[in-house]
Amino acid sequence: MGLGDLAGAVKQLTDNPVITVIPHHHPDHSGNARQFSEIWMKKEDLTMPIPWDAELRRSDIRHIARRMKGCSVTPYNMFHLYPYDLETDILSPEEEGPMPEVHDISDGQRFDLGGGRIVTAYDCPGHTAGEIVLLDESTGTLFAGDAVNYNLGVGAVPLETTLKAMKRIQAMSGSYDGIWNGHHDFRALGAPLDPDCLPTIIRMMEDALAGWIAPCEDPNFWGQDVPLSRNDTTKNMFSGFGKRVSLRRGRNWLAIDPDHLTEE
Ligand SMILES: [Fe+2]
Repeated sequence: MGLGDLAGAVKQLTDNPVITVIPHHHPDHSGNARQFSEIWMKKEDLTMPIPWDAELRRSDIRHIARRMKGCSVTPYNMFHLYPYDLETDILSPEEEGPMPEVHDISDGQRFDLGGGRIVTAYDCPGHTAGEIVLLDESTGTLFAGDAVNYNLGVGAVPLETTLKAMKRIQAMSGSYDGIWNGHHDFRALGAPLDPDCLPTIIRMMEDALAGWIAPCEDPNFWGQDVPLSRNDTTKNMFSGFGKRVSLRRGRNWLAIDPDHLTEE
């Protein structure tokens, strides 16, 4: 969410009323929010303007492109998978319209899509304080936003709290066939995460809480500037986002705040 005319693209799919649910506040997930008259997102994530201004969003997109291109987590170049022009496909908030009405989301809240299809939101704090996942039991689909993936950054709440949320998602695994997250990595485009991803995250968090933290400086896209080209001098916008330690197990990367582990 963030590039081009999302509302127009949705209109091409359906004439039905649209419920816009934003899993967390980062600009690559909330960038087109003003194209809708009302949105649903956790109040905990109303800590920054929705969406960020156009220049910040361009910076964020460059950051994601840099991460996909330059980090060993994605050992191939997917920079050109999505053709776009940062100068024309990002509108300023004013161009997109007024701030939509925002509705809070409660844990377990059900969104009725009609025809017996219910999508349920569950709190999953960690990547942000207000991160949610959405479960569509009728299709066996868990939409994870940025809550679960192979290059996960957490720290918005104590790691212990995030671990509980991860274990709850795992306990729901009988209700879904796959987890679809918000970003691409090793997989064929559109494929769900492989079944090893969530159990490995849980194992890594348990190890971190047990004191088995193995700091790794390089490569790490959280706080590290990886240039897109020899002459690229743009800065990683997350450079100032607090302390992070990167852990790696197999193809899973997990960035945690080592000073924010337990709930006490
Ligand atoms: Fe995010």
